Amino acid sequence: MTDVAGRSAIVTGAARGLGRAFAFALADAGANVTLCDVDEQVSAVAEAIGVRAHAMVADVSMREDVERLVATAADRFGGIDTLINNAGRWRRTRVTDSFDKALADWDYIMDTNLRGLLLLSRACVPHIRARGGGDIVNISTYYVLPAKSAGTNQPDTDLYNASKWALNGFTQAWAKVLAKYRIRVNALCMGATDTAMLRGLFEGDPPADFAATWIKPETIARQLIDLLTEGSDGRTGENIGAWVGEPVVLGPRKPAHRAVTG
Ligand SMILES: NC(=O)c1ccc[n+]([C@@H]2O[C@H](COP(=O)([O-])OP(=O)(O)OC[C@H]3O[C@@H](n4cnc5c(N)ncnc54)[C@H](O)[C@@H]3O)[C@@H](O)[C@H]2O)c1
Repeated sequence: MTDVAGRSAIVTGAARGLGRAFAFALADAGANVTLCDVDEQVSAVAEAIGVRAHAMVADVSMREDVERLVATAADRFGGIDTLINNAGRWRRTRVTDSFDKALADWDYIMDTNLRGLLLLSRACVPHIRARGGGDIVNISTYYVLPAKSAGTNQPDTDLYNASKWALNGFTQAWAKVLAKYRIRVNALCMGATDTAMLRGLFEGDPPADFAATWIKPETIARQLIDLLTEGSDGRTGENIGAWVGEPVVLGPRKPAHRAVTG
């Protein structure tokens, strides 16, 4: 599948931020989009997009919600060929936190960032296969890329970091296994992007001149459309970076590894 137009896509965490921008960009490119979020505001986003969008309040970490979401998307738009695993949670966690806080933080972050990713992807793969291929795009972070700044891999977000490294493992494994079904699996790994999640790091407003340097969600959404436009012969299994202060582009495809056996 090369064209974005006519695709049926699911975007999780689409009530705001990057997910909202992904949903708008997909619809602008002619895709039909099923949006989900735990936040009811997701319905207003779908209404603003118009006939190409349909919203559901759903928690990606809940099996029943995921099954309802996938069945509705497939029914409404005649199948599913694109899944954007965007819903994610961030919280400051430190290895010195109390045991009880660490366990509560684990559930808060891992249930969405990993269990949700697993549930939704597993539920979507049969639908994407039935369409002859498509895309899973996992929304990761520049933390899983080689460090370019002191800000990379903040030591006080150990669980968030660990969740995105594990997501990376899913991306790599699924890309290899699903290639034979023409399903590509890639991750977008952006640096600081101006969303409520990032602004939540600050007490009050961040300094305006600092915030002005951040990447705009719409810029990452364009990168997503470029990735989908590559079609089924495009890259798979890649972590695609986006860096503050640098042009946001897909970049060259990484050379395929040749398996060398004895
Ligand atoms: N903003 C950044 O700088 C940045 C950088 C790197 C990666 N990311 C990643 O991008 C993704 C989106 O981040 P954002 O900055 O737009 O965050 P955000 O907090 O602004 O938006 C996330 C959305 O996900 C929803 N959500 C959370 N848990 C959910 C669940 N269990 N089920 C359904 N919806 C759920 C939230 O309600 C919210 O609307 C995340 O995966 C995040 O880790 C963001």
